[in-house]
Amino acid sequence: MTGSAPTKRLFIKTYGCQMNVYDSERMADVLAPLGYGVTSTPEDADLVVLNTCHIREKATEKVYSELGQIKLMKQARAQAGGKMTIAVAGCVAQAEGEQIMLRQPAVDLVVGPQAYHQLPELIARAHRARGERLAADFAADEKFDALPVARNPDGVTAFLTVQEGCDKFCTFCVVPYTRGGEWSRPVETILAEARDLAAKGVREVTLLGQNVNAYAGEGGLAGLARQLAQIEGLDRIRYTTSHPADMDDALIEAHAELPQLMPYLHLPVQAGSDKILKAMNRAHTAESYLRLVEKIRAARPDIAMSGDFIVGFPGERDADFEATLSLVREVGYAASFTFKYSRRPGTPAAALPGQVEEAVKDERLARLNALIDEQQRAFNAAQVGKVLPVLFEKPGRHPGQLSGRSPYLQAVHVEGPERLIGQIVPVRIETAHKMSLAGVLEMESA
Ligand code: SAH
Ligand code: SF4
Ligand code: F3S
Repeated sequence: MTGSAPTKRLFIKTYGCQMNVYDSERMADVLAPLGYGVTSTPEDADLVVLNTCHIREKATEKVYSELGQIKLMKQARAQAGGKMTIAVAGCVAQAEGEQIMLRQPAVDLVVGPQAYHQLPELIARAHRARGERLAADFAADEKFDALPVARNPDGVTAFLTVQEGCDKFCTFCVVPYTRGGEWSRPVETILAEARDLAAKGVREVTLLGQNVNAYAGEGGLAGLARQLAQIEGLDRIRYTTSHPADMDDALIEAHAELPQLMPYLHLPVQAGSDKILKAMNRAHTAESYLRLVEKIRAARPDIAMSGDFIVGFPGERDADFEATLSLVREVGYAASFTFKYSRRPGTPAAALPGQVEEAVKDERLARLNALIDEQQRAFNAAQVGKVLPVLFEKPGRHPGQLSGRSPYLQAVHVEGPERLIGQIVPVRIETAHKMSLAGVLEMESA
């Protein structure tokens, strides 16, 4: 972005959700004018940023074990007369703040998700003193005002954050605490960023938000999608993650009317038992969720549904878990993410009686995964023989192979020339696997 070659090396490791993937890209954008170029190995980096996730205990522990490794690299650098700065960003930074530096003194600075525009300043300060290293307490609007609009997309698909934070307070979840309250970016700045991406060759954007369909800019998410659909070259629009309570009629209608809005919807339900849903503070019942899915399918019959599920929430009995299985059977998911309940200190569910034994959680998770796998395979198998428009994103793993995505977000592999990357091309699907499809180009002359 400065026009001159980078003089310092930046290594960013990203954990957690797509919001973090987006934020990592933006951190690289903010640091580029300071001479930082991205490197893929931490050993020789001048600045190491861990963009962390706090959602489950395992995610948090991973960060500390990674920090232990990086500390050794920092020591090796120092012995060789060099210097390495270690920054912890993301949701662990927000949740644990300075405690991180107590537990791992090699950390130079801690920066929460709302303060990334201050990174240059924080780094300068960390270099001068080990005093003010914490910035975890700022408003989201300041962050987006201060980040540059221009981006450096590295492909034909890109994430675009439109909403942050959460007001839902599901009793198991840390996000309302790590990301703060619901906040939406103004339509104009999103459109400007999208136009810039499209001009740089991006064909597909995925709009991001912890509650993306709670987007409260003018016209809501449906209005935003309609405006984005007018941008020349932007042929595919996706969004994630949606909350059932915010799935309004306007958005459902947009799925019926906008060809750019891809037929894939991630709509977490978490559980199928009303008793558990209530204890989770989910604001929907199994029945209201099923009705909603019905309505969405009436608007867009081919839509692929995906979900998140938690097994072993406190108080979950066998019958409750069976209700989850039966909801899954009724919906028929194309894909899903399944989790064992993880007790997060400070969240209301952590204090609930009836915590479920680990062995029971394991068994339930295995049964749920088996059912989800079966549905995913069936959904993929149902594509065989169809011709699907595929957006090619990159070369495949084997020479001569291309890798792209179907409208339903399935990975699709074909033999084909590299010039098709960035194009949407009809592909005849011939074989289906658990995670991907393979096929042939329908028009060899494309
Ligand atoms: N805002 C999104 C996703 C938030 S986090 C939503 O509301 O759906 C992604 C997923 O992690 C959640 O949907 C949930 O299934 C899971 N999750 C969150 N907290 C968890 C916990 N304490 N234990 C296990 N899984 C959890
Ligand atoms: Fe967490 Fe619930 Fe908010 Fe999703 S809606 S981020 S699960 S509190
Ligand atoms: Fe994790 Fe924070 Fe995302 S806790 S899931 S990185 S919002």
